[in-house]
Amino acid sequence: MSTERTLVLIKPDGVRRNLTGAILARIEAKGYTLAELKKMDATRELLEAHYAEHVGKPFYEPLVEFMLSGPIVAAVFEGQRVIEGFRSLAGSTEPTTAAPGTIRGDFGRDWGTKVQQNLVHGSDSVESAEREIAIWFGK
Ligand code: TYD
Ligand code: MG
Repeated sequence: MSTERTLVLIKPDGVRRNLTGAILARIEAKGYTLAELKKMDATRELLEAHYAEHVGKPFYEPLVEFMLSGPIVAAVFEGQRVIEGFRSLAGSTEPTTAAPGTIRGDFGRDWGTKVQQNLVHGSDSVESAEREIAIWFGK
């Protein structure tokens, strides 16, 4: 088992609600190490690459609009099994039913929008992590 890296995005809802520090603190408290961090505006081009697997789905366009609605925070965290560890910490996609104790479960809910405003993104595999880190941080 080798150390992994994962891409974490704090989505515009998380930044807007001043939850950046609370979210990063949970990831660090679990024991993962921050390797890269920046606040930025996403672009349509970055999002099209990042969400390539979802292009054409009914939630794709609302998702892109949401991700462009304000600044995001992009981070890379490192550690043994950090990819599944962060996904577990984030909770399931829908914040209404995400387990309490998770980031989405504790901080999120349904706001009646077309897209789930669920605070964070985390890579879902070693291949996705490598691809997504390259998109947001280069190389
Ligand atoms: P997905 O990659 O399936 O979820 P996750 O972020 O948990 O890996 O979908 C990407 C994002 O698209 C998801 O975080 C929120 C949004 N989305 C919806 O709004 N509705 C949906 O039915 C799905 C599947 C996703
Ligand atoms: Mg996903």
